Amino acid sequence: MYFIAPSILSADFSRLAEAVELAEKGGADMVHLDVMDGHFVPSITFGHQLVASLREKTSLPLNVHLMVNNPAKMIPLFIEAGADWLSFHLEASCHIHKDLQTIKEAGRKAGLALNPATPIELLSEVLEDLDFVIIMTVNPGWGGQKFIPATKNKINRLSQILAGKKLPALIAVDGGVKLSNLAELFELGMNIAICGSSVYSAPDPVSEIKKMKAIAQDFNRRIHQEK
Ligand code: DX5
Ligand code: ZN
Repeated sequence: MYFIAPSILSADFSRLAEAVELAEKGGADMVHLDVMDGHFVPSITFGHQLVASLREKTSLPLNVHLMVNNPAKMIPLFIEAGADWLSFHLEASCHIHKDLQTIKEAGRKAGLALNPATPIELLSEVLEDLDFVIIMTVNPGWGGQKFIPATKNKINRLSQILAGKKLPALIAVDGGVKLSNLAELFELGMNIAICGSSVYSAPDPVSEIKKMKAIAQDFNRRIHQEK
């Protein structure tokens, strides 16, 4: 129920396969890949070909976060490239239900990402169709930004809504997640910790992931004991 997902956005882009290897060595549960199109967000990162190449290099699940306009056009490319978890932004899609179905019909985990100012209430009509939600806790587009404190309330409220409706969607938190706020965010309801700069700008990314993973495992044990 509690996962660590290093985001390679903050890694050396000339050595991305090595960055994925570091995630594996640290015991990460999946790798988070940020696709930016220069429109939905100003930056451009990489596309489906890079995802397909990384797919060949690792057995870790690939969690692809599409920060793109018109995601419907790109979703099939990323399914084909081997994304295991695939999310797009609620703010970018005109046909959210349809786009989620495309992902689910391919047998992949379907997620919606929400910008910091987008209310979680906008998820209400598709909550049952979601495998996960990405709550952005910084404005999308860059690594290494400061966590926006007002988003904590969204994480906690969404967690309560899902529990109240007994829905299985997992909550991923993206932006400013680091060792020092990890336990607090798990307490609030985060299931998947997406960690970019806190991992890849650390002097020893492998040991940083190991420390994070130990905290996640503590939470997993706790849940197990409560059952
Ligand atoms: C930002 C991306 C994040 C990014 C987070 O738009 O979606 O996945 O890697 O970076 P940190 O963890 O440095 O805030
Ligand atoms: Zn991301």
